[in-house]
Amino acid sequence: MNLPRFGAKRAAIMKPTETPKTYRVKSFGCQMNVYDGERMAEMLAEKGITEAPEGEDADLVVLNTCHIREKAAEKIYSDIGRLTKGKTQKKAPMIAVAGCVAQAEGEEIMARAPAVSVVVGPQAYHRLPDMLDKAVQGERVTDTDMPAIAKFDSLPQRKRRSPTAFLTVQEGCDKFCTYCVVPYTRGAEISRPYSDLIGEARKLIEAGAREITLLGQNVNAWSGEDDKGRAVRLGGLIRALAKLDGLERIRYTTSHPNDMEDDLIAAHGEVDKLMPYLHLPVQSGNDRVLKAMNRAHTADSYLRLLERFRQARPDIALSGDFIVGFPGETEAEFEDTLSIVDEVRYAQAYSFKYSPRPGTPAATMDNQIAKEVMDDRLQRLQARLNRDQQAFNEGLVGKTCKVLVERKGKHAGQWLGKSPWLTSVWFEGDAQIGDMVEVDMVEAGGNSVRGSLSAAA
Ligand code: 5AD
Ligand code: SF4
Repeated sequence: MNLPRFGAKRAAIMKPTETPKTYRVKSFGCQMNVYDGERMAEMLAEKGITEAPEGEDADLVVLNTCHIREKAAEKIYSDIGRLTKGKTQKKAPMIAVAGCVAQAEGEEIMARAPAVSVVVGPQAYHRLPDMLDKAVQGERVTDTDMPAIAKFDSLPQRKRRSPTAFLTVQEGCDKFCTYCVVPYTRGAEISRPYSDLIGEARKLIEAGAREITLLGQNVNAWSGEDDKGRAVRLGGLIRALAKLDGLERIRYTTSHPNDMEDDLIAAHGEVDKLMPYLHLPVQSGNDRVLKAMNRAHTADSYLRLLERFRQARPDIALSGDFIVGFPGETEAEFEDTLSIVDEVRYAQAYSFKYSPRPGTPAATMDNQIAKEVMDDRLQRLQARLNRDQQAFNEGLVGKTCKVLVERKGKHAGQWLGKSPWLTSVWFEGDAQIGDMVEVDMVEAGGNSVRGSLSAAA
């Protein structure tokens, strides 16, 4: 294949260089990539490399990539091209490609983009500092091994200061949905040990976290042993974390319907710190499509599961993921997805056009759906999802709720934070990042609610 080459000029002069003094990590895609990006930043900081100030050149740029949909890889090549041609910054930086595109297409990246010094997969980034040392000597290094637990053991202590933090508890996926690359890029399901997680949570809380979101591709498949050697699942881990002083909110994402255990559902009714929010993807409302997707659940079993959550926690806000235009999806089958949306009334949701991923079974299935059909279905689905999100937000108006302040708003004096139901709330007044304030909900928008600081706060 005659592939275009990028940054060839720099490769020709790739020679020993100085150790980078500043870095920038650009993370794309899911929250786990955000977490990985933070951990890489912490490692670079440990090595004495500091984050480049906003708007200034960085000596090292880490592109932490996502492979889940669309032409993510093409985007990486254009980012590399912009970096080497002086369009993103004045001086071409050392470039490291991390994340799932690195895992899936590492060799091709090295062949196509000579300006890339380092390719590092999501389970190998703990070795980034050593790889950089080699890159400084002029070597081009690739590491896409998958020893996930070793990675966590060799990462430095958490230092991130923020009121909200992510904590990866589980990685990888054994479900093999026929459209998805995750089992190939992130590897098999592994759970991090209980004591490591409690330890990391403590560090995050000491550094100022008041809310922790537990992350995993199938977070509810997490399992471990507590300090007395008893088997624990995610519900038990959440109950243990809830005992930590200083931690006020616990969330978790993303779950699979088939790994849901009774104790986790019960925890929603029993653990105050566990927020009333559940992200539970269904992907399609049609059983034939679900079967072709290898989801191993039906629309009905999914609805029954949600009902159990609603019984445990009646005000729970529901969220989901949807794919339209899976190969062979008929109009009637798509309408089943619209029906399930009408039935559930999600507070929030993510919806995507099916994107064939190389190496996955669905990519070679017959009856791939035309782009225009997918566009039309996505639009119709999103109209309903937006309707329900707006309705959910309107349902909050008139209530007072606790908001954890996460950052400043666009205008002076404005603050942005989250309600217990993960609604974005903004308000003006006397507050600080990290405050938990009472806010009266005043006006609902599609994506956020405007509030005003409650007199009682
Ligand atoms: N095409 C479109 N959407 C996808 N997702 C995963 N793989 C694909 C694909 N090939 C969506 C699913 C999943 C979310 C993280 O991304 O909805 O839940
Ligand atoms: Fe992908 Fe399915 Fe695993 Fe989710 S459960 S990561 S969609 S294979």
